[in-house]
Amino acid sequence: MSRDDPGALRLRPATIEDARMLHKWVNEPDSLAQKNTTQEPVPWNVHNLWLEARVDDPGCTIEIVELEGDPAGQVRLELKTGGHHVDIYIVPEQRGRGIAHVALQDVLSRVSDRPLIAEVRRNNAASLRLFLGLGFRETGQELDLVTLKLEE
Ligand SMILES: CC(C)(COP(=O)(O)OP(=O)(O)OC[C@H]1O[C@@H](n2cnc3c(N)ncnc32)[C@H](O)[C@@H]1OP(=O)(O)O)[C@@H](O)C(=O)NCCC(=O)NCCS
Repeated sequence: MSRDDPGALRLRPATIEDARMLHKWVNEPDSLAQKNTTQEPVPWNVHNLWLEARVDDPGCTIEIVELEGDPAGQVRLELKTGGHHVDIYIVPEQRGRGIAHVALQDVLSRVSDRPLIAEVRRNNAASLRLFLGLGFRETGQELDLVTLKLEE
């Protein structure tokens, strides 16, 4: 797979059946490290209630990224203060292959909501490059958290 040839990359809406997998991913150390409010592991029951609310919420879209039919990550757009906030996670063994770029590009081409907002830690070089490479621009920073926006 490459940016020019996304190959067998596919995105599909997440369902409640994905709860276990999403719970595992959200509690991976590198995922927790990017969270804004708390970096404590998310308990199963809390996650399950959270997901149930999100799959029925028209302001929230969670898509599972599949590569050759296997889950490789997730992209979430969620309406919060100021616009739709973007969250993305790609499993470690599939990183650095352009999957996040191709997956987000696909989402951006289908979703017209703007602005899109990403909040990324200054030390998260891959995530900063990812969003900047897709046209997001830095609009602010609070402590080590950089805000990037895609306005159009
Ligand atoms: C951030 C993340 C989604 C990137 O996924 P990925 O599939 O590896 O990203 P891509 O291969 O599409 O690369 C995106 C850009 O980052 C760069 N990049 C990838 N890994 C990198 C690394 N370790 N260090 C620096 N840059 C890196 C790529 O070169 C590319 O930049 P370019 O467009 O200038 O060539 C993935 O690392 C991840 O899931 N991290 C944990 C969760 C997280 O941080 N999420 C973001 C918070 S919203």
